[in-house]
Amino acid sequence: MKKTKIGIGFIGFGTVGQGVWKHLQAQREELETRLGLEISFPRVAVRDLTRERGVSVPAEVLTADPMEVVNDPGVNIVCELMGGTTKAKDYTLAALKLGKVVVSANKALIYKFGREVFEAVKTFGGHYYFEASVAGGIPIIKTLREGLVANRFESIAGIINGTCNYILSRMEAEGKSYEEILHDAKKLGYVEADDRLDLDGWDAFHKAVILAFLAHGKWVSENDALVEGIRNVTLEDMHRARDFGYRIKLLGMIRRNFKTGALSLGVYPALIPLDKTLARVDGVYNAIKLSGDVAGTTILIGRGAGQDATSSAVISDIVDAMIGIRDDAHKFLTPSDIDACYRLGETARMATMDEIRSKFYLRISILDEPGTLVGFYSVLAKHGVSVARVVTYEHPGERRGTITLATYPTSEAVMERVVEELKTLPQILTAPLLLRIYEPTHE
Ligand SMILES: NC(=O)c1ccc[n+]([C@@H]2O[C@H](COP(=O)([O-])OP(=O)(O)OC[C@H]3O[C@@H](n4cnc5c(N)ncnc54)[C@H](OP(=O)(O)O)[C@@H]3O)[C@@H](O)[C@H]2O)c1
Repeated sequence: MKKTKIGIGFIGFGTVGQGVWKHLQAQREELETRLGLEISFPRVAVRDLTRERGVSVPAEVLTADPMEVVNDPGVNIVCELMGGTTKAKDYTLAALKLGKVVVSANKALIYKFGREVFEAVKTFGGHYYFEASVAGGIPIIKTLREGLVANRFESIAGIINGTCNYILSRMEAEGKSYEEILHDAKKLGYVEADDRLDLDGWDAFHKAVILAFLAHGKWVSENDALVEGIRNVTLEDMHRARDFGYRIKLLGMIRRNFKTGALSLGVYPALIPLDKTLARVDGVYNAIKLSGDVAGTTILIGRGAGQDATSSAVISDIVDAMIGIRDDAHKFLTPSDIDACYRLGETARMATMDEIRSKFYLRISILDEPGTLVGFYSVLAKHGVSVARVVTYEHPGERRGTITLATYPTSEAVMERVVEELKTLPQILTAPLLLRIYEPTHE
């Protein structure tokens, strides 16, 4: 029987593109035998044709025009691995319009233009695979839509930005400041060129939005989400958190109340109980904890970024896409998949700030004088906030003190009012730091 020929094209050949190429070349024969296919790599687009690459690519394959990859009749699968949202979107839509398969790791693009891309899939019959867009080598998208498809997810909690996890882990392990470790992380190339993506939580937010769409059928906008990064977390907070029985991690948190329909999405530094698995995930590792109504708790841990881990996820998509082309039956992303997601979203609505509840950690710096604590506690009491733990400490030789406390569960709305009122107290020296305390439902 004649073997189906499949051409894989690349738009973008940097860290991920070269990793995918390297591993696919190494596995090519095995994949061809296993899948009964003939695989070729007809076209690779880069920006700078003269740049030295870590892998060798025949000169005639290279082009500086990504549309040559899109339009090449020998290319069935277009790997969009260039990043960015403007041009990448154009090439993605152009390939989908030709009915091709696009494989991507581009979470920012999916966040910004997911609706359009999915609409193009429905209209033109192409397919879009994006396993590598969330949590690198962890097969979270497959897990959600295949392995755990029987479940509704009351909560999905994830450490989904390896850079922040690396910085927080090292601060705590080495007792060094945020600035010191950030400096190292930048030198090691762990921080995106636009560091706000990592440090202010936006990269994790994009990933959480993708998961929320797949699990709950709603595209969550930044106006409907709490997004905070790690810049204000100090070593002191880490020590205090540990005294209270927690570690601080940047968490992506998606919660759904199936009785009321309320859906919430947040990315923020959170205190995680020391004995929970998520608290023990360190360095560049990612972890995602899914609480499903059928399977209960499932936790996936793995490398969240980097050439090899991300390539592993991209190749898993490429293999699925090749099988889909061979059998003329794609499992992902089909128009009925997309419709099923949107149907899930029909019963979901964004939660109000009154509905989003948790315990909180609060740190304030105060002028050390008689009566300060009375003013502070009266604000908490006025808003009905009960305190579970409190530690006050002085700074020798200075007229200032720090109060750190953990509250009992209350709402975001209440704590927002508390913080606003605390800021107006004359003895408050700097803006209070408010962090959420993660309370696992199962596990
Ligand atoms: N790196 C990771 O660990 C990781 C993890 C998960 C997801 N991702 C996602 O994977 C994607 C690729 O990331 P990366 O780290 O591989 O990026 P990268 O190393 O910066 O590579 C980008 C590639 O795109 C090419 N390119 C950029 N603009 C182009 C244009 N206008 N025309 C043609 N080629 C263009 C660049 O060409 P030149 O080489 O000639 O400059 C380069 O080869 C991004 O969406 C990223 O968010 C990355």
